[in-house]
Amino acid sequence: MVEVLIAPQEIERRVKELAKEIEEALPSPFVVISLLKGAFIFTADLVRNFRDVELDFMKVESYRGREKGKTKMTLEPRVPLEGKRVLIVDDIFDTGESLDFAFRWVKAKGALDVKTCVLLDKEVEKRTSLKPDFVGFRVPDYFVVGYGLDLDEKFRQLPYIGYLKE
Ligand code: IMP
Ligand code: MG
Repeated sequence: MVEVLIAPQEIERRVKELAKEIEEALPSPFVVISLLKGAFIFTADLVRNFRDVELDFMKVESYRGREKGKTKMTLEPRVPLEGKRVLIVDDIFDTGESLDFAFRWVKAKGALDVKTCVLLDKEVEKRTSLKPDFVGFRVPDYFVVGYGLDLDEKFRQLPYIGYLKE
C-alpha cells in the first residue's frame, strides 16, 4: 500500500519556488541535464518555468548496496557542455553516488559552472562530500515512490510522492 507523503499541490508549489531560486543563482541560458529515469517528471515540471535552456538526458546506474565507485554511465548527453552553465537534475539524493558521478562527468566535459538540483534529499549517511545546490524536500529514510520514482518500474505515474507501507 502506498501512503501519501507529499501531495501534488505541495509539489507544484515547491517546484515553482525552486525554479525561482535556480534562475536567480544560474543566469539563462544554461543546459539542463536530467538523470533518467527517476527525474523525468520533475524535470518536465521544472523546465517549464525556465526561459532559455537546452535540455538533455543522462543515465547512470549504480549497483545499489555494494561498495563505492561501482557507478557507470549508460546514456551520455549529446549537447556540448564545454564553456556552458549546467544544471543537473535528479530525483533523489540517497547515498549521493550517482549525482557525484554525474557532477564529475559534466565537470570533466569542461562545463563552466555546474549546479545540482534534487527533488528529494533522503536523511541517510552519504558516500560523497557533494551537497546539492537546490533541494525540493528533505525526506526520512523511507523507500519513496511516485512523481517519477519507482519500485521495479512501478508507481512512477503517481501524481504524489508516497512511501510503501505493508
Ligand atoms: P544514490 O544512492 O544517491 O546514488 O541514488 C541512486 C538512485 O537510487 C536514485 O537516483 C533513485 O533513482 C534510486 N533511489 C534511491 N532511493 C530511492 C527511493 O527511496 N525510492 C526510489 N528510488 C530510490
Ligand atoms: Mg530508480
